[in-house]
Amino acid sequence: MLAIEGLNQYYGGSHILRDLSFEVPSGKVTTLLGRNGVGKTTLLKTLMGLIPAATGVVSFERKDITHAKPYLRARAGIGYVPQGREIFPRLTVEENLLMGARKVPARIFEMLPVLKSMLGRRGGDLSGGQQQQLAIGRALAMRPRLLILDEPTEGIQPSIIKDIERVIRALAASDEMSSLLVEQYYDFAQSLADQYLVMERGEIIARGAGADMERDGVRKLLAV
Ligand SMILES: Nc1ncnc2c1ncn2[C@@H]1O[C@H](COP(=O)(O)OP(=O)(O)OP(=O)(O)O)[C@@H](O)[C@H]1O
Ligand SMILES: [Mg+2]
Repeated sequence: MLAIEGLNQYYGGSHILRDLSFEVPSGKVTTLLGRNGVGKTTLLKTLMGLIPAATGVVSFERKDITHAKPYLRARAGIGYVPQGREIFPRLTVEENLLMGARKVPARIFEMLPVLKSMLGRRGGDLSGGQQQQLAIGRALAMRPRLLILDEPTEGIQPSIIKDIERVIRALAASDEMSSLLVEQYYDFAQSLADQYLVMERGEIIARGAGADMERDGVRKLLAV
């Protein structure tokens, strides 16, 4: 579904993404794990076109999108939930949800009922966990075929982490959507992963089936 080939990225003179190649298959959850500062967010921003790729090719559903503008990637079916959520604090929940869509699909309120009860509240007045659900709802409102999430559990309380887990799993199981989930929270990543990737200093150093994460010692690769 999404294919990355020989991707390189730099900030000034530092080489951040080093010749990355991997694929995100359709109908599955791919989790990308890696410690702080290894380049996970840089990778996702590059995939979304928020920073230009230095070299390499990114294709989505066999189309080369390496140089496509971010809104075109969104329109093509890639949803993005950025690290730190980046909802609009002064806009209401409903206005946030309508940023990329004309109408909010009813399904979103079934999956994230908290949003329905808070439609008129300002985004900035929601708790961190509710804001995360809003960021996910906003991405889902565009009906993406691929959802990219950057550390959705960061700073979120366990009960809401469970809710988020349920939403990602339900969408993957229904075959409507694939996910690329960037995480540092091992248990969450493991419970959702069909396949995993481990990143270190801008390179993929391990990959395999989600079911083999424990056996492959992925937990140790993330320990500081
Ligand atoms: N705008 C920028 N300009 C220069 N260097 C940057 C910039 N953004 C990030 N970096 C550096 O690039 C490297 C990769 O950062 P990135 O944010 O991609 O890592 P990350 O894996 O997402 O980390 P975290 O888990 O903390 O979110 C880090 O060394 C970081 O300090
Ligand atoms: Mg990051």
